[in-house]
Amino acid sequence: MSAIKLKNIVKRYGDGFPAVNDVSIDIADGEFVILVGPSGCGKSTLLRMIVGLEDITDGELSIGEKVVNDLPPRERNLAMVFQNYALYPHLSVYENIAFPLRLAKAPDDEVDTKVREASATLELDEHLERKPGNLSGGQRQRVAMGRAIVREADAFLFDEPLSNLDAKLRGQMRTEIARLQKKLGITTVYVTHDQTEAMTLGDRVAVLKKGVLQQLATPRELYENPGNLFVAGFIGSPPMNFLPAEVEGTQLKLPFGTVEIGEEKAAKGRDKGLLIAGIRPEHFEDASLSDKASDGSTFSAPVDFVEWLGHETYAYVPFEAPAEVKERLAELEKDLDGEGLRTQLVVSLDGATTIKQGEDAKLWVDASKIHLFDPSSGENLTVDAEHAGEIHGRAMAEAAALPD
Ligand SMILES: Nc1ncnc2c1ncn2[C@@H]1O[C@H](COP(=O)(O)OP(=O)(O)OP(=O)(O)O)[C@@H](O)[C@H]1O
Ligand SMILES: [Mg+2]
Repeated sequence: MSAIKLKNIVKRYGDGFPAVNDVSIDIADGEFVILVGPSGCGKSTLLRMIVGLEDITDGELSIGEKVVNDLPPRERNLAMVFQNYALYPHLSVYENIAFPLRLAKAPDDEVDTKVREASATLELDEHLERKPGNLSGGQRQRVAMGRAIVREADAFLFDEPLSNLDAKLRGQMRTEIARLQKKLGITTVYVTHDQTEAMTLGDRVAVLKKGVLQQLATPRELYENPGNLFVAGFIGSPPMNFLPAEVEGTQLKLPFGTVEIGEEKAAKGRDKGLLIAGIRPEHFEDASLSDKASDGSTFSAPVDFVEWLGHETYAYVPFEAPAEVKERLAELEKDLDGEGLRTQLVVSLDGATTIKQGEDAKLWVDASKIHLFDPSSGENLTVDAEHAGEIHGRAMAEAAALPD
């Protein structure tokens, strides 16, 4: 029994600042949930409230069937795996893993069985007699997890456990943690600001902005159906393109030309004036390489820069946006901790393309993948709500709009 339930959780620090604002998340037994968002959005605060290191200002936290708001950390039986591993340098790997059992005065044979079980799972058998100082970052991480495993905790909590590692090791550890979590089937909450980690590790991902939950969904749902501009801009790399757009009939007017989007989508954006169209870089193709290029979704655009990466090519196309859209995008960039959402289109084409910088390129866009956003609320007007998990940002906006 180790489902974790957060119900309307609020955290106000001493200065009254709401670091976490009315967050509700149901984490199922055995589920791997990621808390993700830019720096300062309240991820660590939320995790520390779950583990009991931080008081909960308002709301209800349950583990299993039990409300634990007032339980001290040691009575919650959760294992926090810290960013800096917190290993004892003078103890062997074996004794580091055994540590919680020694504290609990477990008999030697029980300690030995559990440590060896954990070490086999974590592939640490040949390192048991070594000291942590002589291990690689990834091995140390596994020792820290071993310690959590022998405690038989009800859940694992991770706060950016990979941020100290270099890119290659980070990739390896990511796979390893995902594999281990599935093998152990233990409920896990994992904090990161890295959208790639969030997308690759989680069963579900909770996207936070300034203490408010935006969307709680599977990685695929987030990628295919972001509920608002913030989630759309945060998930995906290179990020989604945002272009000024207007619906006319069943066509979408974009800075480079018009694209046929079909009645169903057009109806959602018609008569709404200026919109923001969201199109992922990978949903463009070099029209000369695409056999789909005859469906009315082809246009010509001036390419000012090309990056060839072998398997794919990024082409950059600058565009002008009206002040209203520019302002909205600048604001969004600030919210996202700025990954350069300039008014330029980035398209990711097949590496076989021969498009050159300084030339006009004929591009095809997959119109079925275009999202339309309301520039003022940021809401995704074309979201497929059945495949978008829980969209909290919008639920709140709707609740606020209701007369009381
Ligand atoms: N002890 C504290 N007293 C007052 N404010 C705090 C305290 N700890 C955190 N905050 C504020 O609460 C907000 C959320 O902080 P938190 O550490 O949870 O963010 P985070 O999402 O983990 O960010 P990061 O990615 O930088 O680790 C921040 O604005 C921070 O300034
Ligand atoms: Mg943090």
